Amino acid sequence: MEKARKLLIAGNWKLNKTVAEALDLVNGLQRELANLKEVDLVVCPPFTALSEVSKAILDSNLRLGAQDMSEHGYGAYTGEIAAGMLKEFSVRYVILGHSERRQYQRETDELIAKKARAAHAASLKPIVCVGETLAEREAGATEKVVGTQLKGSLAGLTAAQVEETVIAYEPVWAIGTGRNATATQAQEVHAFIRGQLAQRADAAVAKRVRILYGGSVKPANARELMSQPDVDGALVGGASLEVRSFADIVKNSI
Ligand code: PGA
Repeated sequence: MEKARKLLIAGNWKLNKTVAEALDLVNGLQRELANLKEVDLVVCPPFTALSEVSKAILDSNLRLGAQDMSEHGYGAYTGEIAAGMLKEFSVRYVILGHSERRQYQRETDELIAKKARAAHAASLKPIVCVGETLAEREAGATEKVVGTQLKGSLAGLTAAQVEETVIAYEPVWAIGTGRNATATQAQEVHAFIRGQLAQRADAAVAKRVRILYGGSVKPANARELMSQPDVDGALVGGASLEVRSFADIVKNSI
């Protein structure tokens, strides 16, 4: 199917995979998805596997992403990882503001915006996550919540940086629950996000930004979700941990 923007499908491995398991997975993905050029493919292993995965995918169509980074470049911040350190392993993308970090690490929009600015300063492309909880959706507050997160998380970015940012709409109620947003629900929020980006930057920029859907993406629902005009790819959690399911999501999306 012809898309306005090149699809991007990223696997968010979360807190999974030893180095050996990570290498098995990317070797399998390379076998299944070799020569596929229609989609930008990204894997986001845990930090501990970045070095080895980076070497393993050097000559492939897989690109590397990290799951988080510090807003600081260096210094006395125990346990943190800076953008410049990620660049040493040819990391191109970094997931920021995932709902699990917003929830468990209490990340705020303000912090996420600082990280996004630090990512751009190091020429890393942030994948900025936004999404409402079930209670917020049921209260009719989806646009308010997503709009506020988007505005806050992109604060201080230039229009050119917004254009180089990937947005992931991930309704919290759909993450890891097996209950995905319907294609119509996803399209509604994606169109809203693009409208907000047009106001925030300009229409031409908004048209070029890729907006991914995340939340229980599976081989069986990928085609319908990806067929929506404003859905430009997927951020896949659980189904990115197996070669078969991630490869099938990619194949069913084109
Ligand atoms: P899921 O996770 O695919 O397991 O629902 C998506 C995500 O959290 O990025």
